[in-house]
Amino acid sequence: MTKLTPVLSAHWDEADSFTIGAYKRHGGYGAVVKALEMEPDAVIQLVKDSGLRGRGGAGFPTGMKWGFIPQGDNKDHYLVVNADESEPGTCKDMPLLMANPHVLIEGIIIASYAIRAGYAFIYIRGEVTHVVRRLQAAIAEAYAAGHLGKNIQGKGYDLELVLHVGAGAYICGEETALLDSLEGFRGQPRLRPPFPAIAGLYAKPTVVNNVESISSVPSIINNGAEWFSAMGTEKSKGYTLYSLSGHVANPGQFEAPLGITLRELLELAGGIRPGHQLKFWTPGGSSTPIFTAEHLDVALDYEGVSAAGSMLGTKALQVFDETTCIVRAVLRWTEFYKHESCGKCTPCREGTWWLVQILRDLEAGIGTAADLDKLLDVVDNIMGRSFCALADGAASPIISSLKYFREEYMQHLTTGGCPFDPVASTVFATAGSR
Ligand SMILES: Cc1cc2nc3c(=O)[nH]c(=O)nc-3n(C[C@H](O)[C@H](O)[C@H](O)COP(=O)(O)O)c2cc1C
Ligand code: SF4
Repeated sequence: MTKLTPVLSAHWDEADSFTIGAYKRHGGYGAVVKALEMEPDAVIQLVKDSGLRGRGGAGFPTGMKWGFIPQGDNKDHYLVVNADESEPGTCKDMPLLMANPHVLIEGIIIASYAIRAGYAFIYIRGEVTHVVRRLQAAIAEAYAAGHLGKNIQGKGYDLELVLHVGAGAYICGEETALLDSLEGFRGQPRLRPPFPAIAGLYAKPTVVNNVESISSVPSIINNGAEWFSAMGTEKSKGYTLYSLSGHVANPGQFEAPLGITLRELLELAGGIRPGHQLKFWTPGGSSTPIFTAEHLDVALDYEGVSAAGSMLGTKALQVFDETTCIVRAVLRWTEFYKHESCGKCTPCREGTWWLVQILRDLEAGIGTAADLDKLLDVVDNIMGRSFCALADGAASPIISSLKYFREEYMQHLTTGGCPFDPVASTVFATAGSR
């Protein structure tokens, strides 16, 4: 059984897949020629017709977002590509950029032309030096070949592409914090409205899209909207990258139509590591409520995952077997959110700190049953009451783990420590006690 539909990942196993030569050998930069012969509005319509939805987490329709940019306003327009990829478990954009950076550059030219932008930016997370170097080299290749700069491919369209390296902050993946950071300010979310389409980078109309969203565009121009929308499900169209990590035999990227299930993906990935069973998993990174073995047949599209009580997010499937302590896993994620909280609003800044303190005690078995209610009480004061979605993401693992594994939390209290690793829990008891 194979349900794979390799498009972006089709040539990743070729030694020179990241070079412009390899990209062109497989028809690369052909879509841009086609697109530049179309009216910009026709390009937007084609992307709308394809049903492509943003792959950065929220699933907003890409063509519709492009259509929000006011036309004939005599203002500069900007395209900003979000390559911050910092959510725990999310690991699709970096491999894509390492193996096939030119597909993003081609997508950027097409998208910028469609929204009438003369400048495009890639905002990439600071820690990934190897990816930055690869992208820099690819951009230089594209300039040298006449795909960027003045009069692209002799079609009279000019585009400058700037690669901006962030300083390594998860919040800078939130699109308005990203724009502040790109402008040279501290990366903190902006109040909306105005939305970026009206006042984005330097207060000009701006589209912010994820790496995978923009990289999907050349294949849509080449093959047509119907080709793309023939894959996937009724409201979640096309192919996408699913990232399997954790306790699976062969973790990695699996490019498949939206709507595939974890059971099918696990078959492709060789199953859970030998001798073990699935305990819990995230459908879309650590910000999405966890699932258990009872969700193996949930369709991994926007509607299916949401109906089952979670979110498709970035399709980052972090898989954990029975050797993992749920309390410790949730504590680790919560420590991440506490560390990455930008501090702008009180519920998230203070709340994530308190969540860590309570979870440390629970994990070490020195809390009380009332701490479980306190956890939910703090979460209740964070969710929907904070400035941006980071805080909602911090609440997700806590609420969902208590829903499915309350007994395991209680077990820590009755045994006076972590049943999975008593030695480590003693260390936590000392370090985390308040
Ligand atoms: C805390 C936080 C972190 C985010 N990190 C990323 C990220 O690293 N990459 C990304 O594409 N979107 C990220 N997003 C979502 C962006 O705000 C935005 O929705 C996305 O870039 C839009 O692109 P798309 O429409 O192509 O999905 C993040 C959102 C939040 C709240
Ligand atoms: S919710 Fe957290 S990350 Fe978002 S603005 Fe408030 S403090 Fe910053």
